Amino acid sequence: MFDSLNPLPADPILGLMAAHRVDPNPKKIDLGVGVYKDEQGNTPVMRAVKSAEARLLQNQASKTYVSPAGSATFNALVASLVLGDTLCQTLGERRVTFQTPGGCGGLRLAAEFIQKVKPGSKILVSDPTWANHIPLLGEAGLQIETYPYYDYQNHGIRFDDMMARISKAGPGDLVLLHGCCHNPCGADLDHAQWQAVAALAQKNGFTPFIDLAYQGLGDGLEQDGYGVRLLAETLPELIVVSSCSKNFGLYRERTGALTVIADSARAVQAAASQIASTARGMYSMPPDHGASVVAEILADSELNREWERELTEVRQRINNLRSALVVELNKQGIDRDFGFIEQEKGMFSFLGLSVDQVQTLIHQYSIYLVDSSRINIAGINSSNIEYLARSIAATLKSGQPAS
Ligand code: LMR
Repeated sequence: MFDSLNPLPADPILGLMAAHRVDPNPKKIDLGVGVYKDEQGNTPVMRAVKSAEARLLQNQASKTYVSPAGSATFNALVASLVLGDTLCQTLGERRVTFQTPGGCGGLRLAAEFIQKVKPGSKILVSDPTWANHIPLLGEAGLQIETYPYYDYQNHGIRFDDMMARISKAGPGDLVLLHGCCHNPCGADLDHAQWQAVAALAQKNGFTPFIDLAYQGLGDGLEQDGYGVRLLAETLPELIVVSSCSKNFGLYRERTGALTVIADSARAVQAAASQIASTARGMYSMPPDHGASVVAEILADSELNREWERELTEVRQRINNLRSALVVELNKQGIDRDFGFIEQEKGMFSFLGLSVDQVQTLIHQYSIYLVDSSRINIAGINSSNIEYLARSIAATLKSGQPAS
């Protein structure tokens, strides 16, 4: 059965992590995969997570099965985190939330659910979008098309082009939107643009599908929820996949959620039964540990405060690094304005380099980044920022090694 198989190339993002790990160059920098790193280059377990884990160890009385929907407590708390308490109350039985194996599991569960109830549905994704959106949604059977999004010349959003394209979507079509901290470009919709998207969805009847993987890493937990809350408030239907990988630092614990909002409690109940049967057919039920940790934190005011404090530190560090990188690049006398990096949000920005230039950074300087020239800002620190800026400058100027 396996004799005729051909090996596949490494994953464009995860492959970088592996290549960086085995690179012996002491100057190597990992700007590839989107994980938070502190000043020492570590991805720490958050303080509130450690405390919650200690409590769980002490108090958890059983490891029996939960259900395909996961923990009801986690689902209620995460729905409030994403949508806010008031809106959750207003939506009442028009909303259901399922605990999922990370954001990826949530995206795939949503895609398989849609494929089950409306096979071959069209989903419009931003150009560019996160590389893994394509297999997660497409391999479930959804028809993926793109809408213009990032303006590589002016480092903004091609909003008119985006609206012109998504205005062709109608009832039964989905439009994937990044809730905040757009991955890979870091350029987010502003409030007026979210309002225009909401009005268009209302008028044309397509269903927005929001991927909210970075809530709290852009402007703040509340601020980063602006778009998702606006759409949840104003539209009859919405799909939201949220992740706890980044804002709780729970990457390997696979902790996320799928929230579906429909026009009636009856429709939500029907959707919930379909989602439960889809989850049962894929993985039966989601892993518990990360969700239990999140529930412990969100339900306890002291742990919650501690978590928010650390998340604020994370966000501020990323924003400070954005400014510091612009200063450092400006010192190199490169004939380019990198000021846009300071305006963008979350972990990622494009450097604006060609694939060849990216390969030069990887192979000559041991600086690992995605081919699109997406960098994870959180991989920068005070000991590598100068080397990074010099290497980028040398690559842009002549491709000669920087000293
Ligand atoms: C990323 O974009 O680097 C992260 O979301 C991690 C991943 O799984 O790709």
